Amino acid sequence: MIKKEIETLVKKVLEELNITDVLVEIKPSNRKDLCDYQYDGAFSLAKLLHKSPLEIGNEILEKLQEKQSSMFSKIELLPPGFLNFTLSDEKINQILNKMLTNEKFSIELPEKENIIIDYGGPNIAKPLHVGHLRSAIVGESIKRILKYLGHTVISDVHLGDYGLQIGQVIYGLKKENIKIENITLEKLEEIYPKISGLCKEDEHTKEICATITKELQDNNKEYQEYFKKIKEISSKDIKRIYDYLDVHFDLWYGESDAYPYIEKLTPILEEKKLLKESEGAKIIEIKKETDTKEMPPLVYQKGNKAYLYGTTDLGTIYERMSHNPTSILYVADKRQALHFESVFRVCEKIGYKKNTKFEFLGFGTVNGNDGKPFKTRAGNSPKLDTLFKEVKDAFLNSNEKNETMKESDLDILVNAIIKFADLQNNREKDYIFDIKKFSEVLGKTGPYLLYTYIRIENILKNEQQVEKTLNNKIYNDVDRALRIKLLELNDTLKYTEKQKLPSILANYLYEMCVNMNAFYEKNHINKLSEIEKKENWLIILKLSNKILKEMLDLLSIKIPERM
Ligand code: ARG
Repeated sequence: MIKKEIETLVKKVLEELNITDVLVEIKPSNRKDLCDYQYDGAFSLAKLLHKSPLEIGNEILEKLQEKQSSMFSKIELLPPGFLNFTLSDEKINQILNKMLTNEKFSIELPEKENIIIDYGGPNIAKPLHVGHLRSAIVGESIKRILKYLGHTVISDVHLGDYGLQIGQVIYGLKKENIKIENITLEKLEEIYPKISGLCKEDEHTKEICATITKELQDNNKEYQEYFKKIKEISSKDIKRIYDYLDVHFDLWYGESDAYPYIEKLTPILEEKKLLKESEGAKIIEIKKETDTKEMPPLVYQKGNKAYLYGTTDLGTIYERMSHNPTSILYVADKRQALHFESVFRVCEKIGYKKNTKFEFLGFGTVNGNDGKPFKTRAGNSPKLDTLFKEVKDAFLNSNEKNETMKESDLDILVNAIIKFADLQNNREKDYIFDIKKFSEVLGKTGPYLLYTYIRIENILKNEQQVEKTLNNKIYNDVDRALRIKLLELNDTLKYTEKQKLPSILANYLYEMCVNMNAFYEKNHINKLSEIEKKENWLIILKLSNKILKEMLDLLSIKIPERM
C-alpha cells in the first residue's frame, strides 16, 4: 500500500510537469541506510525528454517538496538521478497501527477469483521420492497464499494412475503369480523398477505392458480389479507422506477419472473439426504462424485407440470447466512446459480460454552437493521416508540440545528444514539441497526462522501485554529497520501472488527474522525501565511474531513447542 501511495504521489507530480502516460514504479530500497524507497524513473524520462536525469530529478523533487507531505522525513536527489524517499516516523507508525487493528494486517485483498490448482501429481505404483517434493511443497504454498488472499481455491492431486506404469505393475504381479489379495506396498515397490527396467531392454515386454494398459483403459474386468487394489494401497502410502508434509488436497482425482469426460469432449473436438487422422492416430494441430520453435501436434488417440497424457489432461479440463474457474494452475516439473503449452493451445481452440486463464508453474530440480539430481546416502532410491530420516539425523547432530526435543517437534523441524530450503529458491531454478547446511540454526534456514519466533515468544511470555496503539516515536535504527520491514508485508504478498513465487514471501520472512534478531540483541527489552518505550517495543515484537507465524503457515511451516 505504501508503495502505491508513493507511486500515486509521483504520478501526480509528473502530471503537473506535463509528463503523462508513464509507468511509475517505486522500489523498496536495497540500501536501507540511505532511504526506504527509491524512484529511478528519471533515467528513462531523461531519454524521453532529452534532458539529464539530474535536471528531471530536480524538477520532480521541487514539486514534491512543494507538496509538504507529512509522509516523508526526507526526500533526496542522489546524482546521477535517483530519488530517495525516507518515510516519516509518524507515517510508519500510522501504517503499523492500521496493521494492528485488522486480522489480516490490513493487507489489500485482490479481486476474488475462483481457482483450481493441480499439484502433487505422483504416479501411483512408484513410491514418493525426492522428485515429488517440489510439486507438493511449492503447490501447497501457492494454494495457501491464494486462499489467504481471499480466493476460492480447489486443489487436486491429479494422480498419474492410468499410464504404462500400471500396465507394467499388473504384468509383473501376474508374472509372479501374486493374487490380488496378496498385493502389498513392498511388492509394488519391488515390481515396478524391475519391469520398467525390463521394458527398456525388451521391446516385446514393453508391447505386452502397453496392451495391458490399453485393455485396462477399456475396462478389462480382471485388470480393473488389479488396478483398484494397486491404487488403494499406493494412495494410502502417498497420503501418509503428504500428511507428514502437511500437504492436503480437496480432490484426489487421477488420470483414470478423466475417461468419462474424454468421451464427452471427443464429439466437441469433432464438431470443431480439430481432430485429424495421421497414420491411424488422431492428432490436433497446434502450430501457430508466430512460432519460432517446433510445435508438434498433440496426439489425442494412438493408432491402437489408447489415450495419452495430453488427452487425460484435456478430459480433466472438460470437467474442471464446469466449475467456472477464473484460472487453472499447474505446478509441475519445468521439463513439462511443452506438454502444458500444447494442452493450453488446444484449450484455446476449444474456446476454454475465453473466461479462464491457464497457467503452468514450472519448477527446477533438487540437486545434491555434486550438482546432480539429489540422492540420499542410501544411493539410488531417494525415497522420501529415507530423506526425512536423514534430515532428522542431521538436525539432531547439529546441536546437542536437540536430543531432548519432543518427537512431534522434531517432525516439525524436519518439515521446516526441507520446506525452507526449497521455498527460498525461485521455483523455476534448480537448487542444491545441502542437508547439513539447511539443518543449522544459524543461516538462511527453517530452524533459524523458528528459533527467532521462539526467542521473541519467550520475551512476550514474561511481559504484561497492553492492548495499545503505537505512539509516534521510533527509538533506534534496529527498531526502525524492523518497523519498515513489517510494513512491507502488503507489497510482498502482492508480488508473491502476482508471480506465484513463494520464494518472495520466504525471503521476506528471512529478512524480517534478521531484523527481529538485531532488535533482540540490541534492545534488551526485559531490562528496560522506560515504560512507554517498552510498551511500544512489545507491540512491535508481538506484531512481528504474529506476522511470522501466519506467514510461515502459508509456507506450511509450523511452530514447535520447544527447540
Ligand atoms: N503425473 C505427472 C508426472 O509424474 C505429473 C502430473 C502433472 N499434472 C497434470 N495435470 N498433468 O509427470
